[in-house]
Amino acid sequence: MTKNDVALKDTVECPIKHIAFIMDGNGRWAKKRGMPREYGHKVGAEVFRKIMRYCGDIGIEAATFYAFSTENWKRPQKEVDAIMKLLSIYLDDCKKELRTNNMRIVFLGDKSIFSEELRKKMIDIEESSKNNTYIVNIAMNYGGRDEIVYAANKLIAQGKTHLTEDDISSAVYTNISPELDIIVRTGGDLRISNFLLWQAAYAELYFTDKFWPDLTTDDVDEIVDAFKHRKRRFGGV
Ligand code: IPE
Ligand code: IPE
Ligand code: MG
Repeated sequence: MTKNDVALKDTVECPIKHIAFIMDGNGRWAKKRGMPREYGHKVGAEVFRKIMRYCGDIGIEAATFYAFSTENWKRPQKEVDAIMKLLSIYLDDCKKELRTNNMRIVFLGDKSIFSEELRKKMIDIEESSKNNTYIVNIAMNYGGRDEIVYAANKLIAQGKTHLTEDDISSAVYTNISPELDIIVRTGGDLRISNFLLWQAAYAELYFTDKFWPDLTTDDVDEIVDAFKHRKRRFGGV
């Protein structure tokens, strides 16, 4: 896509305000090529950067990416280490790029599990990007059930004894994002895997057999187009 195309697309309002991706299939993508799973994560991280930028370019207000779940710690240490290394590299690059882009980075999930160094970098990036307007949520050590428990505990700590839906919506990690419009899962599996359980209530679901490292900006265009044809009723007629 040329700069002009991007400028043109910018002037058109995107029907999707908030998109979320379950970036699945890195391991199988690498295996298919006779490569270690870690290689799939490396390429997956590059694709994440490309798709993230593109979603902002076409006018999406918030994009949420499932990068590492509360259950992914069960994986072999070598694989977990490789993913943490990629996170660290990303955080360093991200910090440099913030000056030249409009991304507001938010990490969804309990940060206390990460090393002091990673945690500091994550908080620093959140702080220094907080005046930017395109919201990029990165779910790291994220679990949908964990998030609901976190939100409830946060509200209890504030002294609440009776919770409303609005209370919980304001206490979940995505509280600065618009309502979730669509969840996209790559990799062929038809499940949510503990992602955005609260936010998914009326989100559209989109599944593709493509492995995450094969996802392209054309696929994003297709997703936007498919979304345009969905009839959302929210329980009405
Ligand atoms: C998704 O790809 C990335 C993470 C969960 C970190 P996978 O690593 O789950 O790849 P597959 O699903 O095993 O192919
Ligand atoms: C979901 O993928 C988590 C991420 C993409 C980060 P998984 O590969 O962990 O999900 P399951 O195990 O197939 O349900
Ligand atoms: Mg997987």
